[in-house]
Amino acid sequence: MTDDTPPEDPAADGADSVALDPWGSSTIANYRSLFEEFGIEAFETMLPDVPSPHYLMRRAIIFGHRDYGRVVDAMRADEPFAALSGFMPTGDPHIGHKLVFDELIWHQEQGGDTYALIADLEAHSARGLSWDEIDEHAEDYLLSLLAFGFDPDDGTLYRQSEHREVQDLAFELGIEANFSELGAIYGFEGGTDVSHMQSVVTQVADILYPQLEEPKPTVIPVGPDQDPHMRLARDLASRMRYFGVTTAYASFEAKPEERTQLERAYEALAGNETVRCAEAADWLETAGDGAAIEGAIEKLRAAGEEPLRPRVRFLDRNATAAAFEALIEAVEGEKRVYDEHVDAFDMELANAEELARQVEVDHGGHGFIQPSSIYHRFMTGLTGGKMSSSIPASHISLLDEPSEGADKVREATTGGRETAAEQRELGGEPDKCPVYELYAYLLAGDDDEYAERVYAECAGGERLCGGCKNEAAEEMESFLETHQERREELRPVLEDLDVAINPDRI
Ligand code: TRP
Ligand code: SF4
Repeated sequence: MTDDTPPEDPAADGADSVALDPWGSSTIANYRSLFEEFGIEAFETMLPDVPSPHYLMRRAIIFGHRDYGRVVDAMRADEPFAALSGFMPTGDPHIGHKLVFDELIWHQEQGGDTYALIADLEAHSARGLSWDEIDEHAEDYLLSLLAFGFDPDDGTLYRQSEHREVQDLAFELGIEANFSELGAIYGFEGGTDVSHMQSVVTQVADILYPQLEEPKPTVIPVGPDQDPHMRLARDLASRMRYFGVTTAYASFEAKPEERTQLERAYEALAGNETVRCAEAADWLETAGDGAAIEGAIEKLRAAGEEPLRPRVRFLDRNATAAAFEALIEAVEGEKRVYDEHVDAFDMELANAEELARQVEVDHGGHGFIQPSSIYHRFMTGLTGGKMSSSIPASHISLLDEPSEGADKVREATTGGRETAAEQRELGGEPDKCPVYELYAYLLAGDDDEYAERVYAECAGGERLCGGCKNEAAEEMESFLETHQERREELRPVLEDLDVAINPDRI
């Protein structure tokens, strides 16, 4: 293939399956690279387990996740879980933000403890907005969220700047993170201001805040651009833990890859009465392969005649002396105590993790569960390219005059052909059409059949862009009208809430 070969047409191999798949998009390839590069997992494998999934999930607009399984498990078992997301008040809330509003509201309806916050410290420090601008936008985000159905009596709304506990937690988390690490993640340099760095630990504090009262699975619905924050939050959550819990096979410490080798040797030799480390080393010499083998063999040789026995290990990371003592006490069955760890021979890993968390919580720790995330695709801008708050024609603000919003739809770029005749013959390209996205992401709502019909009619050449855009424009107009009326109805509700809209500043 030469450099100027156009990218392969996704419809070329198996036109049918692609044309009948309204949710597949030609841009999914880019999202897929996130899986390999960052270890985000595909949402589709999760979908069958989600009880009554939201349409954004069904249509693969939510395309990826980290560790969402533990949230789904809690949901299904009727156990506590939480959902939280944040909004940086740098402009008007627009239809792209509605995805996150919907995701939060859906989790609230599924029984989650739900939080939405205004990232005003971030807007002030990272984007340099004045407090007056921030206050105005903050109110607009909150009103829209309420208008879409967020229940403020059952959920929590806050502003970073007004939340002392979040700021305290950020301070504690800052002790676990250092400058080189933030530099590596975010590209911070010597010239990065301190408040910008502080806004990063504040976001991690937001993410862990739902667990301050008690540890629980927590999902953070965001765009994939927020994934660096998720990785940091997951890291810091485990670094704060009192104990690390792992499996082990002998008294020495082994890396996870080495542990796999130890496990293999143990499984192979477990028929013997006692498996000695030296024997396991011999076995690995002949039967092992892989990079970690050298290290495993070396450690086994050094341990010599020590028996190889599976066990779970509790490592003392940040525990107080009292907490470590209490843990030792609480371990049931045969155990062996070392300086900085204790090995338990009769415990399952899952039970051990539960015990470690319980002892931590009982001794003043947080026992954080690593937070989960789900990622949605970004809407394409109406003018093609990225949907951006700074390009008015690219997005529809939730505050746009309804008729103006409709006009933006009529002026949008499409996936249509040059002429109507060509479109009838070849069909349009809904996968490349921002107007089709409006249907799938927003206008069709929960009605899958409607979204599928628009897709099929477009791809089949029965739908022409003029009419299609008019239909979408009319629906957009009434969507905006309804939403804006609802916002006005909820103004008094917002005023009664405990969220300061114009707090005093220094
Ligand atoms: N950084 C997010 C943004 O740019 C806002 C944000 C702050 C956030 N704290 C959060 C998002 C916690 C999710 C969870 O929009
Ligand atoms: Fe887009 Fe509609 Fe035209 Fe198809 S018919 S390309 S969905 S505007």
